[in-house]
Amino acid sequence: MSDKRTEILEVIATRRSVRAFTGGAVSRDDLMAILKAGMAAPSAVNVQPWAFVAVTKRETMDALCAALPYAKMLDKAGAAIVVCGLPHKDTQYAERYWMMDCSAATENILLATHALGYGAVWTAVYADMGLVKVVRKILSIPEDVIPLNVIPIGVPADNEPPIDKWRPENVRWEKW
Ligand SMILES: Cc1cc2nc3c(=O)[nH]c(=O)nc-3n(C[C@H](O)[C@H](O)[C@H](O)COP(=O)(O)O)c2cc1C
Repeated sequence: MSDKRTEILEVIATRRSVRAFTGGAVSRDDLMAILKAGMAAPSAVNVQPWAFVAVTKRETMDALCAALPYAKMLDKAGAAIVVCGLPHKDTQYAERYWMMDCSAATENILLATHALGYGAVWTAVYADMGLVKVVRKILSIPEDVIPLNVIPIGVPADNEPPIDKWRPENVRWEKW
């Protein structure tokens, strides 16, 4: 197998949710590379029903940290990306598929973050409509846009191994 293919599989296999950060910075160039990875994701009929709010200001991350019960690791994050769904981007596909499309973008973001040596974690916003409302307010997100999650990104403060999720019994060959 070529080195590049092995490297990609290694990134996938070693990614894990990182919930403890040192407070170290995330460079603008790296954040751009992570955003590009998010936007490279597949989407139904290529509608791309998404937008990404990149948060780098400490005061904004502190406001999100205070408001979101599952995102307390924002206090030491260097940046955050809020993946938002645009269910009204077209008349046919976005409303049905935005969540899958935004989830694919989120996974790309998590993998790119890990590949660049940072840690990150998907913290839930949608489908808790109370959290959706709070995030919309803090980030001035319009009513027809749905924040799916907040992804704090930072320099990992721990060295936990990834969870081994390989279960051969979860694969059915040829038929169920
Ligand atoms: C839809 C979704 C919502 C999640 N919400 C949270 C969350 O609110 N807080 C959190 O710490 N992790 C959250 N996670 C991360 C999962 O807990 C994590 O992916 C899972 O435990 C497996 O661990 P791993 O990512 O290290 O492989 C979420 C993941 C998904 C896919």
